[in-house]
Amino acid sequence: MAKKTFYITTPIYYASAHLHIGHSYCEVITDSLARYKRERGCDVFFLTGADEHGQKIAKNAENASMTPQEFVDDIAKTFIDTWGRMKISNNDFIRTTDKRHVELVQKVFSKLLEQGDIYLGKYEGWYCTPDESFWTDSQVVVDENGKHICPECGREVHRETEEAYFLNCKKYIPQLLKFYDEHPDFVPDGKLNEMINTFIKPGLEDLCITRTNFSWGIPIKENPKHVVYVWIDALLNYISALGYLSDDETLFNKFWGEESEVVHFVGREINRFHTIYWPILLMALGLRLPDHVYVHGLLLTRSGVKLSKSLGNAPSPLPLIERYGLDALRYYMVREIQVGEDGNFTPKQFVERINVDLVNSYGNLLNRSLSMINKYFQGKIPNYKKPTSERILKAYQDIELYRNQYETHMDNYDVTKGAEDAINLINVGNKLIEEQAPWALAKDSTKLGELEDTMYVLVEIIRNGSILLRPFLVDKSDEALNQMNTPSNARNYDSLKDVTLMSNVTIGNLSQLFPRLDKEKEIAYLTELIDGKEE
Ligand code: MSP
Repeated sequence: MAKKTFYITTPIYYASAHLHIGHSYCEVITDSLARYKRERGCDVFFLTGADEHGQKIAKNAENASMTPQEFVDDIAKTFIDTWGRMKISNNDFIRTTDKRHVELVQKVFSKLLEQGDIYLGKYEGWYCTPDESFWTDSQVVVDENGKHICPECGREVHRETEEAYFLNCKKYIPQLLKFYDEHPDFVPDGKLNEMINTFIKPGLEDLCITRTNFSWGIPIKENPKHVVYVWIDALLNYISALGYLSDDETLFNKFWGEESEVVHFVGREINRFHTIYWPILLMALGLRLPDHVYVHGLLLTRSGVKLSKSLGNAPSPLPLIERYGLDALRYYMVREIQVGEDGNFTPKQFVERINVDLVNSYGNLLNRSLSMINKYFQGKIPNYKKPTSERILKAYQDIELYRNQYETHMDNYDVTKGAEDAINLINVGNKLIEEQAPWALAKDSTKLGELEDTMYVLVEIIRNGSILLRPFLVDKSDEALNQMNTPSNARNYDSLKDVTLMSNVTIGNLSQLFPRLDKEKEIAYLTELIDGKEE
């Protein structure tokens, strides 16, 4: 039985530049899960935010002739605006420059310093500014020109030496390994093995967690020329937003309590921070660990290059929403690429996915079914009767089957399979229309009962399908329910168990749910939008 309290987070994105469809991808997956859990009656807290400190942001601000604070204020506004336009249902938006966050980071630092988990030492090693990551001699790659290269992003790193504070990671390794052992689903799909083999087995060094060569960060109280390393600062957002160590820890106790289901969604390039350092920090603080760190895959271009800000090949989601509607984009994101795996964002698949699933399957089923109710029953849905025909009986069984599968998939965070279950259910309706041929039943007065049952079960399929699709299609599902004039007591998830609720309802006005996309024209548009940037 799933837990009743659910805390889900996204990474907090760097406020160094604007958002693109890669960030939106993670946001849409997590938003869909948050919405699903709410549909199922869970108390949900869904967090996203902005990561606003660090050298890279300070440099970008300087280039824009702004103070870092002005710079991140502007960028954070665009984040909030974009998520608003994507109807992201986050409960809070945390900024690492928020006073509440700054205070928490300082308190955590003091606490860990006092208990001896943080100590002052000397840092010497490599630093990758774009990634804000430290690397040891054995981790950096030396290229053919003798340049030292970041093993993660492939850009050049530089040497740094300075006095710095360290987090005593070594001490927690046995406890960490024990935790991994006891919680095999901590990081689903075996995505922890690589972390253990690459970073823990060769011997994890203590982590350098302060910097003195720049000032755009959270200064530590004990020695203010040091600012907290941006990753430690950033990871703490997950608990600062809940009010940990503040005057009011109500949210923290509720959503970080043992009873709560806690899951962080992250892209695979930041797996290491979330599955090694974040647990160590939490252990040092004596706090519980998340139930899962779910590592989602990345959106790649057609030729397999990661869509990213620094490579400049990633479009903003806004023109896509403008052109195709929010729900089409959201649906494509959850459905096309198996969550957890990398996938290519290709114009052809985008257009096909929308035309096949949303236009041909969902939109058509709604339109055909309601048109027939208008034609054969003057717009009034027949009364529910226990079905006698095998086929209709089977259709009711399919509704339950797909709903159960959907729940299992969604409870395992598999939005891709969840969306597929919902569309498969819709297709049960399309197939039933072909098999039952209502137009033939309507010509035979002895078949009136069968015609009524057919129409009723189609309505039930649409009602179920719409409610299952609602976490993804945040506007269109309700629009479909509106077209059926679905009463309010038949719109929530629990109401799906009662099959009688649509009896005798007079349907509303019909309109096309999704316009068909002109394949060639839209492929040309998208190719220009995506690949144009790749060159
Ligand atoms: N600020 C850190 C995260 C700190 S969390 C405590 C950071 N920010 S980021 O702006 O680089 O965002 C990284 C995240 O954005 C990825 O982990 C992923 O969730 C999302 N994505 C960025 N590019 C992406 C793709 N091309 N495809 C899918 N998701 C992508 O790292």
